[in-house]
Amino acid sequence: PSQQPGRRQPQQPRVPPSISEEPGGHGRQRGSQSVLQGLQISAGFQELSLADRGGRRRDFHDLGINTRQAIEHVQESKTGSSGIMVKLTTNYFRLTSRPQWALYQYHVGYSPEMEARRLRSALLFQHEELIGKTHAFDGSILFLPKKLGKKVTEVFSRTRNGENVKITITLTNELPPTSPTCLQFYNIIFRRLLKMLNLQQIGRNYYNPSDPISIPNHRLMVWPGFTSSILQYEESIMLCTDVSHKVLRSETVLDFMYSLYYQVEEQRFRDACAKELIGLIVLTKYNNRTYRVDDIDWDANPQCTFRKADGSEISYVDYYKRQYNQEITDLNQPVLISQSRRRRGTIMPGPVVLIPELCFLTGLTEKMRNDFNMMKDLAVHTRLPPEQRQREIGKLIDYIQKDDNVQKELRDWGLSFDSNLLSFTGRVVQGEKILQSGNVFNYNPQFADWSKETRGAPLICAKPLDNWLLIYTRRNYDTANTLLQNLFKVTPSMGIRMNKATMIEVDDRTEAYLRVLQQSVTPDTNIAVCVLSSSRKDKYDAIKKYLCTDCPIPSQCVIARTLSKPQTAMAIATKIALQMNCKMGGELWSVEIPLKQVMVVGIDCYHDTLSGKQSIAGFVASLNQTMTRWFSRCVVQGRGQELVDGLKACLQTALRDWFKWNNYLPSRIIVYRDGVGDGQLNTLVNYEVPQFLDCLKSVGKDYNPRLTVIVVKKRVNTRFFAQCGGALKNPPPGTVVDVEVTRPEWYDFFIVSQAVRNGCVAPTHYNVIYDTGKLKPDHVQRLTYKLCHMYYNWSGVIRVPAPCQYAHKLAFLVGQSIHREPNLLLSDRLYYL
Ligand SMILES: *[C@@H]1O[C@H](CO)[C@@H](O)[C@H](O)[C@H]1NC(C)=O
Ligand SMILES: *[C@@H]1O[C@H](CO)[C@@H](O)[C@H](O)[C@H]1NC(C)=O
Ligand SMILES: *[C@@H]1O[C@H](CO)[C@@H](O)[C@H](O)[C@H]1NC(C)=O
Repeated sequence: PSQQPGRRQPQQPRVPPSISEEPGGHGRQRGSQSVLQGLQISAGFQELSLADRGGRRRDFHDLGINTRQAIEHVQESKTGSSGIMVKLTTNYFRLTSRPQWALYQYHVGYSPEMEARRLRSALLFQHEELIGKTHAFDGSILFLPKKLGKKVTEVFSRTRNGENVKITITLTNELPPTSPTCLQFYNIIFRRLLKMLNLQQIGRNYYNPSDPISIPNHRLMVWPGFTSSILQYEESIMLCTDVSHKVLRSETVLDFMYSLYYQVEEQRFRDACAKELIGLIVLTKYNNRTYRVDDIDWDANPQCTFRKADGSEISYVDYYKRQYNQEITDLNQPVLISQSRRRRGTIMPGPVVLIPELCFLTGLTEKMRNDFNMMKDLAVHTRLPPEQRQREIGKLIDYIQKDDNVQKELRDWGLSFDSNLLSFTGRVVQGEKILQSGNVFNYNPQFADWSKETRGAPLICAKPLDNWLLIYTRRNYDTANTLLQNLFKVTPSMGIRMNKATMIEVDDRTEAYLRVLQQSVTPDTNIAVCVLSSSRKDKYDAIKKYLCTDCPIPSQCVIARTLSKPQTAMAIATKIALQMNCKMGGELWSVEIPLKQVMVVGIDCYHDTLSGKQSIAGFVASLNQTMTRWFSRCVVQGRGQELVDGLKACLQTALRDWFKWNNYLPSRIIVYRDGVGDGQLNTLVNYEVPQFLDCLKSVGKDYNPRLTVIVVKKRVNTRFFAQCGGALKNPPPGTVVDVEVTRPEWYDFFIVSQAVRNGCVAPTHYNVIYDTGKLKPDHVQRLTYKLCHMYYNWSGVIRVPAPCQYAHKLAFLVGQSIHREPNLLLSDRLYYL
């Protein structure tokens, strides 16, 4: 420690968790009915009124953004028609209220004026016989499930020092069940029910600490939990809930710091700690609560003292010993700071101080994610197949139905939940045929994969390998040579003409690879193939950076180990040949796309979470009718800049390129916009779409293409189960849902496009936020599904339209390895696959 222990006073009064009087904590509520009934929930309304007044709070559900009203041709109906019917069950429960239900909103005034919210509450609830036990109050707005006798009610209360206060309660609003305020109200009530069930909030979800799953061979623990949200859907208000899992590790923050200490240089240690730890969620087992690490205080240690509420001083060591019987053994560790994020309740708690030794890490690291065995063992518990998932989801409703307090609360508000999951009918649209150089391939739609069917078939457009480099280390000479021989075997049937590569041996240093590239790449080089001896990222990054920016040619890196198994060598050579062909501008297959003169655009973003500095957007646009060639460009933007300005420039270049290829401009542009966070829809509608329109206007006076902008969302909690006989299965690829669980104010739909081997398939949500294209919903849905077949690095259907996946891969490569905009000379090829 830099200070003598115990002497130092932290600048701000920083206190450990339990004294900070965190509102919402179980300890505070228990045995205190009035707090439960009044403050807790009224605290929720403080959020609510904030949102109403300033709109500053981010609304994760993008409520109140009605984009459908401006799209004329879907006013009557936004549903498609093609395909065969499929019976579906989904993870939604209807919320019902008693007939003529309404929420009554009152304004409460005090004379003389009273400041403290607690006092205002206490004074009001001297009249509980009038107001009732069921209420929500934030200090000035009161919500009741019943109507008071008069529009304006006056009552008198008395303060502790005998002052008489007149309270005026005025009815200001009678809210129907579907009003936006009511929707927020249901969510607040529901969060409260989850707390009554002793579930614990981590992030936006709730977990059950009393039902943990232990995975001892990896020293992991998993808390099962739920996501939940209540919203107005097409026909009714529903609760959407899905299972969620939180992984808890047996490693403490202090363990982690120690192992980091031995990995980095001394002077970088603190920075490294900050980089790795800040933002993580940690669990303190002594109270089973979770906190976000916001800062590390290196000037403090467990022997520092703080002032308790009663004014006495105590050190953290003593405090934790006395309060939780926790022994802190390392007196030299720094402390962690967590700013309380909860804004509810009457007390704004200060930051909370945590001891690294007592904090357990949660979630998975990159290394753990790459550990195949660990992920497999985890998947047994977290990747639930349809029937099991449905059972787990049903548990939440079970908990709710069986808990008397929860039932009473719901009854008092006049609300209840359906006990069955919602069922309805969806459609499975026709499967696509894969067209490849005159051949037509039908594939088994159940597997959504045609790699077997098309293996060795001629490609639409095969780029020759006349002049190419194969670079390897001495140890990998045999591997490189075998790869070369195998490529000679697999390429002829695909129609790829191939000369022997220029074989170059290097030593295993990054500089050696770079020097060879500098010396050997000529303007005629088609592609450089590097066989790498390990998956070391810095070497890969350096090669990619050089060949994507300074010396723009396609490149293919292969790790030697991948090539070493004789059983898979041919399949891998085939895969590499296809990938190389795409990188050089070749075309593999297509599906039938009836629309003419349409340019399809895909956009996705990458946020550099580690440095927190850069945002990168990938932009990909089709160049020809068959959507087999794409224009790709990337925007690299520093913090604080808007990505959209860069996107505008991308669209301009894409149109110029399109013109070069086709000698006319597209008459339709369809943008698939991925990478939009919850609560950002507003920005897109009000800022990004107008910028696109602006850009099109700037092309020319007479140029007036039809524009469709579709927001693509992969991270949704919606799940569909197909009813097959008595069983529940994953719905088949091509399942489209545009009823019941869509939103009335949007022109939106879901598509299940892929097939999964384990667990539940996740649908993708599409929201058409702008459309002058006037295509029928059926056509937009079909086109979207067709585009999911066009990702050339996978011989099968994927979760999103191919241009989104291309944009994603491009942004990822730039964000991870290149860190600046790649050379535009590569922009007409899929060089980033
Ligand atoms: C915390 O949860 C675990 C189960 O995950 C339980 O065994 C333990 O008793 C709980 N501790 C406290 C303090 O609630
Ligand atoms: C798509 O682009 C490729 C360019 O190589 C061309 O061969 C093909 O004919 C194009 N298709 C259409 C329909 O323009
Ligand atoms: C393309 O596929 C190969 C093999 O499946 C994979 O290793 C590679 O990461 C993929 N590329 C991209 C950009 O996803």
